[in-house]
Amino acid sequence: RAGSLAKSMGYEAYVVGGFVRDLILGRPNLDLDLVVEGDGILFAEAMARELGGRVKSHHKFQTAAVLLHDGNRVDVATARLEYYEYPAALPTVELSSIKMDLYRRDFTINALAIHLSPERFGRLVDFFDAQRDLKDRMIRVLHSLSFVEDPTRILRAIRFEQRFHFKIGAQTERLIRNAIANQFVHKLSGPRVFHEMRHIMEDDRPLASIRRMDELKLLAAIHPDLALDPRKDEVLAEAERVITWYALLYVEPKPEVWRIYFLGLCAGMEDDQVQGVARRLGFSKHLEESFLALRHSIRNTAQQIFEWDYRRGLHSELYFLLKDLPLEGVLYLMARNPKETVQRSISLFLTTLRTLRVELAGADLKAMGLPPGPRYAQILRAVTAAMLDGKATCRAEQMALAK
Ligand code: CTP
Repeated sequence: RAGSLAKSMGYEAYVVGGFVRDLILGRPNLDLDLVVEGDGILFAEAMARELGGRVKSHHKFQTAAVLLHDGNRVDVATARLEYYEYPAALPTVELSSIKMDLYRRDFTINALAIHLSPERFGRLVDFFDAQRDLKDRMIRVLHSLSFVEDPTRILRAIRFEQRFHFKIGAQTERLIRNAIANQFVHKLSGPRVFHEMRHIMEDDRPLASIRRMDELKLLAAIHPDLALDPRKDEVLAEAERVITWYALLYVEPKPEVWRIYFLGLCAGMEDDQVQGVARRLGFSKHLEESFLALRHSIRNTAQQIFEWDYRRGLHSELYFLLKDLPLEGVLYLMARNPKETVQRSISLFLTTLRTLRVELAGADLKAMGLPPGPRYAQILRAVTAAMLDGKATCRAEQMALAK
């Protein structure tokens, strides 16, 4: 319907980018990006009217997002010739708008399009041999200024390489090394680098990407203290193992995994070094403080967890040690202490103790005639402990204990 709609407006419309790449690779992708040769915003508005939805448009960039009533989202961009004025561009007269639009993208594998017009519907548009690169599993830029134009593409290249098990092409890798050696990464704002790093850390098994970033000297280019050392590498490897293990438990809540990897990247660093990294990456004051606080709580808990006796220790002790630590901190503690008994203790907490709930509540204590006050918290804590230690397994026993 988008194709017919475009035709009725005298436009040509295409699906482009990651959607087409993933379609060919057979990977799910629900982010639909369209490019229209014509007025993208007018087209998006017509689409919203026809399919039911609303439009958020950016006139400056001539782009729009159609937010459909069924919850789906379609991004629409405008392909315009005069838009592409940069040194690497080929003579514009020879090129169609879609070709120029694709040419200014990051990698050949992301520069494919599919026709939506009724006459050519479904036909693949491949100006840059992207199908060959997909077949050969290669990440290649479209022109040699790609990383100069946008150095975040270095991080994207690494992410795609590891995610798809592709290889960055030799010439593209040379351009990356050059861009890094020439300090192009320094020009990037903190939030943009952080956004890309988070993206990498939220992909499955990011360790390979982190190692690749290090190997290309990208971590050090972002901030000298971020470079890997054997200790960080070991903790990160263990973190990946722990995160995979936890994901397979299929329990809620889900951790924000980037925080765990980030803790690993900051292993062995002093607080002022961590602060330096946080500032380089444009952390908000709030994020910087919560990240530092998380490191402190982990440090304060680590020794006690190490000493807790897995065989003879009281479960309630373990529970109260870990219950207020954010999940990311608990998982990091596990990664940082590969000692078997520590891992077993934390696993016991995560799989069993953490979910235990006292059936007794403040209202019950009130019904018993106890005056409300700080005593409530003490009693509930004692009842929780008794429950965890197997001394009050049913409600009646808990009531008796409270009395
Ligand atoms: N793009 C680019 N340069 C960038 C970012 C994006 O050229 N720095 C282009 C690519 O063609 C990409 C498209 O914009 O395919 C959409 O970007 P995005 O949604 O970030 O990437 P996807 O390729 O869809 O990747 P993902 O699967 O991670 O969403």
